Amino acid sequence: MSGIATIPEQIELARQRINSLHEAIRQHDYSYYVLDTPSVSDSEYDGLFRELQSLETNFPELISTDSPTQRVGGTALKGFDSISHRQAMLSLNNAFEESEVAAFDKRVREGLGVDSVEYGVEPKFDGLAITLTYEHGLFVQGATRGDGYTGEDVSLNLRTIRAIPMRLHSDKPPALLEVRGEVLMLKRDFERLNREQEARGDKLFVNPRNAAAGSLRQLDPNITAKRPLTFFAYGLGASEGIPVITTHSAAMDYLAALHLPVSSQRATVQGLQGLLDYYRNIGQQREKLPFDIDGVVYKVNALSQQAELGFVSRAPRWAIAHKFPAQEALTVVEAIDVQVGRTGAITPVARLKPVFVGGVTVTNATLHNQDEIDRKDVRVGDTVSVRRAGDVIPEVVRSLPEFRAATSSPYKLLAAIGQQCPVCGSHVVKLEDESVARCSGGLFCPAQRKQAILHFASRRAMDIEGLGEKLVDQLVDAQLVHTLADIYQLDVVTLSSLERMAEKSAQNIVDALQISKKTTLARFIYALGIRNVGETTAKDLARHFGNLPALQTADLQILQQTPDVGPVVAESILQFFNEPHNSEVIKQLIQAGISWEESEGKSTTSGALGGKTFVLTGTLPNLSREAAKEMIEAAGGKVNGSVSKKTDFVVAGAEAGSKLEKAQTLGIALLDEQALLALLADSAL
Ligand code: IVH
Repeated sequence: MSGIATIPEQIELARQRINSLHEAIRQHDYSYYVLDTPSVSDSEYDGLFRELQSLETNFPELISTDSPTQRVGGTALKGFDSISHRQAMLSLNNAFEESEVAAFDKRVREGLGVDSVEYGVEPKFDGLAITLTYEHGLFVQGATRGDGYTGEDVSLNLRTIRAIPMRLHSDKPPALLEVRGEVLMLKRDFERLNREQEARGDKLFVNPRNAAAGSLRQLDPNITAKRPLTFFAYGLGASEGIPVITTHSAAMDYLAALHLPVSSQRATVQGLQGLLDYYRNIGQQREKLPFDIDGVVYKVNALSQQAELGFVSRAPRWAIAHKFPAQEALTVVEAIDVQVGRTGAITPVARLKPVFVGGVTVTNATLHNQDEIDRKDVRVGDTVSVRRAGDVIPEVVRSLPEFRAATSSPYKLLAAIGQQCPVCGSHVVKLEDESVARCSGGLFCPAQRKQAILHFASRRAMDIEGLGEKLVDQLVDAQLVHTLADIYQLDVVTLSSLERMAEKSAQNIVDALQISKKTTLARFIYALGIRNVGETTAKDLARHFGNLPALQTADLQILQQTPDVGPVVAESILQFFNEPHNSEVIKQLIQAGISWEESEGKSTTSGALGGKTFVLTGTLPNLSREAAKEMIEAAGGKVNGSVSKKTDFVVAGAEAGSKLEKAQTLGIALLDEQALLALLADSAL
């Protein structure tokens, strides 16, 4: 035997060395990023990494996707693909008060018929929900939560997060494992990132959550790789071939054993007292924790009990988030302005001295209406306490009269605006039984006109691309558009005379207007902006009447024969069509060329799915809820939110909850995705 290795032997040696380098680097990453206790010096680590890189340069055929060198790679994407989740990613109900937690525990005990319940408890991470998919131990895909049913494929970005293993630590990895958890940025990393951003003259991030969200949604993974993100797992999704696990806490231990990061603050507790003690305990540690949390989460520990309790709509009955009180801060009301909405509602808005609260700078807060102002006695010049929690809009909690000047007087909305709409000068009226004051100007009022046009053009209405807020402001202010019909008279010359409107964009708008003319009756009815007529009611009306004249001439009684249309909605519709101005605008719109396919009306009784009512529940394996709904509606069926005796079919997917139970009790026909598709296919014949 000579001392020189043959080529196959060299490759074999390289393979072995590469494997042991993978193993070593994985182990060091785990110690550093998951356990937070570095096991080697930086220079030793760099040495191992460089050795691996040079071996891979010499033996490119030995580069595997789970190699530590392959975390960052590829070029920027054009957009993220959308992904249907195998199992829906649901949300949690919230509790703020101890009484709400007590009620939760009571519901759980009664639901299970037991005296005391064991709970798995953990922090509520303030980041972004993510699902990771591992096949045979290898990371294959990761996605955002999206609407809970479909999310975005952010695999390349997730690969750059070193706390997320590319290979699970196991001799017998499961065939499939979905891990649910939260991507976030540690407080110290956030501060460092912002210092770096500042030094470069780049924009600062408002809080760790926004920094994490912004980083994860980068189309270029090379940018994400430079952002210090981390991850904590808090649950399992779909799986195949995992060991028998009977509790949530055991599931977390299993994930920890696979070297996934799980919270070290997790615990199991007994009963309500255990929950409340845990809440207080974590509340005390909150400031010192390395990451932001906005509460704690309680989960019934036994998986069999979880299954027994099931789900209500989008949240489990077996879990709840106990949120920390929203942060409050003091500031001053510099002025109270009013805004005029689409239906003329006059809304008072407090202009605040800018104040940083709940992770953002707040400058405005709605005061809703006079009743709200009276209740809180908010006055101009007052020192007020402002609150903001999570994604919730900021609100004035209370005013502090002790800081008030002696000359201050209560704020009276109607007096402040002299009973006149601040935009159009029309009379402002407040009906006895309503808390809102309204401008009586209707579409004469530019503010209402602007809102009406924006609604008309919106995606679910006439879907006129490019007709946004800035353009509508200009069109109305320049008196180019008085009625909805006027927008169809706009031409390229007029549009390009507007500020910041190049000829190309003007042409795009004209094209979009042209395209929008071909529509559906339902969209048109919705676009008119009749009070109390939302998208669903518009669809009901279109289906019931089939053509516009029939709807326009219907009286109260006939209107109420439409499914789901009651006296209030019928009255709004009648009032709308009785207004001569509205009929005139409709006439002009039709003359401008807006059209749709007429139907016989009451198509509720024709066609294979005509007249049939469906309820969707749970997650279908392939179809998103929106897609299933559209398909059913296209076939003449109707989709409702809740199950009743009138429901014809319940389409049930994975994790269907109370609606499924109700359907079973009422003996309603059940369909799975396949059966639904078969039914749709039949109805198309
Ligand atoms: S469990 C079916 N556990 O809170 C239960 N969620 O409102 C699914 N979150 O979208 C969620 N920390 O992003 C769970 N320890 C935790 C959590 C947690 C944060 C987030 C999660 C979810 C939202 C629910």
